[in-house]
Amino acid sequence: MERRKLGSQGLTVSAQGLGCMGMSDFYGERNEAESIATIHRALDRGIDFFDTSDMYGPFTNEELLGRALKGHRNQVIIATKFGIMRSKPVKDGWAPITGINGRPEYVRSACDASLKRLGTDHIDLYYQHRVDPEVPIEETIGAMSELVSAGKVRFVGLSEAGAQTIRRAHTIHPLSALQSEYSLWSRDMEEEILPTLRELGVGFVAYSPLGRGFLTGQLKNPDDFAADDYRRNSPRFQGDNFARNLELVERITAIAARKGISTGQLALAWVMAQGNDIVPIPGTKRRRYLEENVAAAAVTITAEELAEIAGILPAGAASGERYPAAMMSYVNR
Ligand SMILES: NC(=O)c1ccc[n+]([C@@H]2O[C@H](COP(=O)([O-])OP(=O)(O)OC[C@H]3O[C@@H](n4cnc5c(N)ncnc54)[C@H](OP(=O)(O)O)[C@@H]3O)[C@@H](O)[C@H]2O)c1
Repeated sequence: MERRKLGSQGLTVSAQGLGCMGMSDFYGERNEAESIATIHRALDRGIDFFDTSDMYGPFTNEELLGRALKGHRNQVIIATKFGIMRSKPVKDGWAPITGINGRPEYVRSACDASLKRLGTDHIDLYYQHRVDPEVPIEETIGAMSELVSAGKVRFVGLSEAGAQTIRRAHTIHPLSALQSEYSLWSRDMEEEILPTLRELGVGFVAYSPLGRGFLTGQLKNPDDFAADDYRRNSPRFQGDNFARNLELVERITAIAARKGISTGQLALAWVMAQGNDIVPIPGTKRRRYLEENVAAAAVTITAEELAEIAGILPAGAASGERYPAAMMSYVNR
């Protein structure tokens, strides 16, 4: 697996990471044994960049990752996040978000709690998961910078922050990465955010590069999701939007079939082709999907194919917002 540089502070990671969120939350059934086997298979395949957050579970995903990486700590880059607070898991439903917290004292306590759950004495890449509009970013990043001085964190990042926030944060402590949604059907980062990151020398970690599974072409019916599957809340996965988006993905599938690869592999290869400062973190809890996703790192896409894909799915082509309204208000601020 090729390696890519994130930012200008010395962080390098495998060109594809592994998103661990779905192993504990968001996407229906859980299987701890298969999830841990998937993490170990990722290590065997040269993936050393593992993504989690304290809000996944909540909390249980960091614990799972910590258990899986026991004995491998020196081989891996652990990325986690703080700042999104959720209610206790609700019966038969997805635990709702109750607020965003970027206060310095909260940053310190969240970091200590994550270290404990991960079973480690340092976090390699620590992100603020969403910007808290009530707290100046300078104060939040200042607290994160102190964590670096204390040796608890190596590199600092933001998730879903706006361009001005990125600039302000970067003057307080150099950011190594921004993590935001980026894929064939979520391209809003291209206008202002990606150029800002490139100007500042900040890396980009692309989350949900498979469109939360939609861009694999395997999801055919929104009624198939479990009761607690987060995607039930997501506009793109509902009613007419689902049907319209499926038509677009089916046209992408035709290109993938011609190349002898899966639709998901084409979607991942597309993200990886957008620049060597971009690292996608596809999420899966199954070894079978992991193998398929790793193989996408070897796929090349020609300029003609890129143009053909752009003709089918130009920026903004997806039907429906990428988050429900309340959660849309948390991004790009
Ligand atoms: N910073 C943020 O706000 C934020 C938000 C969302 C996600 N993330 C991070 O980004 C990571 C990746 O994003 P994501 O998990 O939301 O979405 P994703 O990677 O776009 O898609 C994950 C979904 O695709 C399915 N899948 C994966 N590989 C597949 C394959 N080869 N064939 C068919 N289906 C496949 C998975 O199924 P299975 O689960 O059944 O394996 C899962 O349902 C997360 O794990 C998380 O760490 C961050």
